[in-house]
Amino acid sequence: MSKSAAGDRPAAGTASRILALLYAAADAFISGQELSRQLAISRTAVWKQINNLRHLGYAIIAEPSRGYRLQNSADNLHAAALSHLVSSTLIGKKIISLQETASTNAVAFKMAEEGEAEGAVIIAEHQTTGKGRMGRVWASPAGVNLYCSIILRPPIRPVAAPQLTFLSVIAVARAVEKLTSLQTRIKWPNDLLINNRKVAGLLNEMSAETDKVNFVILGIGVNLNMRSEQFPAELRHPATSLFLESGTKVDRTEFARVLLQELDGLYTVFLEAGYTPARKEWLERSRLMGEMVTVTDNGSVRTGRVSGINEYGALLLDSGEQILSGDVSLGGNLAAGN
Ligand code: BTN
Repeated sequence: MSKSAAGDRPAAGTASRILALLYAAADAFISGQELSRQLAISRTAVWKQINNLRHLGYAIIAEPSRGYRLQNSADNLHAAALSHLVSSTLIGKKIISLQETASTNAVAFKMAEEGEAEGAVIIAEHQTTGKGRMGRVWASPAGVNLYCSIILRPPIRPVAAPQLTFLSVIAVARAVEKLTSLQTRIKWPNDLLINNRKVAGLLNEMSAETDKVNFVILGIGVNLNMRSEQFPAELRHPATSLFLESGTKVDRTEFARVLLQELDGLYTVFLEAGYTPARKEWLERSRLMGEMVTVTDNGSVRTGRVSGINEYGALLLDSGEQILSGDVSLGGNLAAGN
């Protein structure tokens, strides 16, 4: 995908279907005849759409006797193809991709204020000022990771909104484990760790009235193919990427597809059955149940054994304490965070 373009706007229907077919073929060629047959359009129309995609920045090779092939299909996030590949009931029905933006959360928030329906997803190849928790910056170099924000309009009270972060962290964990052989662990409240290093971060932002959520923006950042030198030196805590942990590049389009589908399934269950199923999976994945932990928050340090999380996402200790914020480490050993 060239700097100028792919993803500034989604390719229209036919072009996006062609892109999805080329993407699915990976490194193989597909003949013009085959594309024309599958899309029920003329070969001239195929050629025109291929040129449109090239103008959008997609590198498509054409060879007279073999057909068309998408270059570097594993390296690029093919947003237009993604729109066509995601099969979901709600999340990802509409995907907007941007080459560069300050923060996908900021874009999604503005769109939601202007009335965008729930389920819309904003993806960027590069964020100039990606937002992290507690006012931190989320390192967002171009072309290597996944930065996305999802607009939801759940019929819940504002106090229950943190429950949604638990859905996103579970969705990321499932996607990592489906597409790699890496093991993840969730660190309360919303960090995903591999080998005790942070690989993904979630940032929810909400617009609400006293008793009603207008919308929630689920911001998800996953370090996919980031190399060591791309992490800012001042990063406070150890961070990692799937590439650094596995030595293999992740297909970013495929990762985004699986993530959005998992999130769609989790959100559907959440709307039908509430928070209980996600809470159960979260506890299994966090491996915190019954463990001794140390929680530090603004200079205060508390130690206790974890007895669960409550319906608002607070961490419960067997002393009866409810932890609403802070950094948790297992067994009193202050480990990874951010
Ligand atoms: C954290 O600090 O752990 C949360 C990081 C959240 C980063 C993601 S990247 C996509 C979305 N847009 C943003 O500006 N932030 C979130």
